[in-house]
Amino acid sequence: MAPIHNFNPGPAVLPLPALVRARDEFLDVNGSGMSIMEHSHRAKVYESIHNEAIALLRELAAIPDNYDVLFLQGGASQQFAVVPMNLLAPGKSADYVVTGTWSQKAIKEARYFGSPRVAATTEVDGKFYRVPTQSELDLDPDAAYVHITTNNTIAGTQFHEIPRTSAPLVADMSSDILSEPLDVSRFGLIYAGAQKNLGPSGVTVVIVRKDLVEAGRRDIPAFFQYRTHASENSLSNTPPTFAIYMLRNVLAWLKEEGGLPAIAARNQEKARALYDVLDERADFYQCRVEKGSRSLMNVVFNLPTPELEAECVLAAQELGMVGLKGHRLVGGIRASIYNACPKESVYALAEFLRSFKK
Ligand SMILES: Cc1ncc(COP(=O)(O)O)c(C=O)c1O
Repeated sequence: MAPIHNFNPGPAVLPLPALVRARDEFLDVNGSGMSIMEHSHRAKVYESIHNEAIALLRELAAIPDNYDVLFLQGGASQQFAVVPMNLLAPGKSADYVVTGTWSQKAIKEARYFGSPRVAATTEVDGKFYRVPTQSELDLDPDAAYVHITTNNTIAGTQFHEIPRTSAPLVADMSSDILSEPLDVSRFGLIYAGAQKNLGPSGVTVVIVRKDLVEAGRRDIPAFFQYRTHASENSLSNTPPTFAIYMLRNVLAWLKEEGGLPAIAARNQEKARALYDVLDERADFYQCRVEKGSRSLMNVVFNLPTPELEAECVLAAQELGMVGLKGHRLVGGIRASIYNACPKESVYALAEFLRSFKK
C-alpha cells in the first residue's frame, strides 16, 4: 500500500510507534495473556497503565501538585456543560472569549446554568480570522472564570499569548494540548478531547486546580461533579480502558521524542513549511487568517474557486494525502498537522501545493 499522509482534523494521525506497540501487545499485554480490553479496571495490569498515563502527563506538562488529572468521557462537548455545571454558582457570571464554533458551543451550554458574558468576540460576518488581543478583552473581575479556546480547529486560529485574567482561566485545549510547553499554573482548568494530540477518541483529559474541584457545586448529580472523579483517581466507574492505554502509548512516544520543547520545534517547522508556500503563492492560495493568529495545528486556506478546491483535494488524495477538505462550515482546505503528523507528510503536501499551483 502507498504511504498515507493523514491530515485528518480528529480523530487524527497517531504516532506509528504507539500503534506498533498496541499491535504487539494486542493479544497479550504485560505478559498477562490477555488484551488490555479484557482486564478489569480494578486489576493491577490496567491500574498500572492508568497510573503511568497520569504520571507521564504530569511529567510532560509539568503539572503542579495542586492540580488533579482526570480521565473522563463525553468528549470536550460534555465539558462545555460540565465546566459551568461545577464552576458557575447561582447568581455568578462567567466570561467567554468567542473565537469560533467551539467557543460558541461552549457559551451556549453555559447559558443553561447562568448568564455567561461575551468578554470578546472576533466574529465578522459569521467568520473568525483572528483571536483577540489582551486589550480587547472586556473582563468582569467578579466572573467565576474566563473561558477560551486556545486553538480554533475550524477557523485555523490559535492564541500565541495566553490572556491574563484575575478570574480562573478555563481553556478548551482539544486541538493544541501538548503541542508546545505550557505553564499549567496560568490555568484553573484545562480540558481536551484526546483525538487530536493525545490518542484515540473516547477519553477526555481534564487538568483542574484542586481548590476549584473543592469549591465546585454540590447540588448537581454526583457523577458530574469533578470531585467524584478526583477522589477516585478517575476510577469511580469503568473508564475507557483501551483509549487510556493508547493515551499512555502516545505519551510514552512523546517523552521519547524529547517532550514538549522538541515537539514544539517540530510543530513550528511543519507549520512554517506550509504557510511559506501559501505566502509565496498568495495570488493563488488565500490564507485569510491574520498572521499573528495563525494556527500551528490547523492550516486553513482557500483557492480561487470551490471547484479548484475540490480538484486540489482530489488530486492530493490520489497521492495518498487524506483529510484535507475544509470543515463544512467554512469550506476551503484544512491541513491538520498535529504532533503525530510526520514532517515528511507536511513536506510532501508543501511540494504538492507548489506543483498544483503550476
Ligand atoms: C477545539 C475543539 N473543542 C471541542 C471539540 C469537540 O470535541 P468532542 O468531539 O470531543 O466533543 C472539538 C472537536 O473537533 C474541537 O476541535
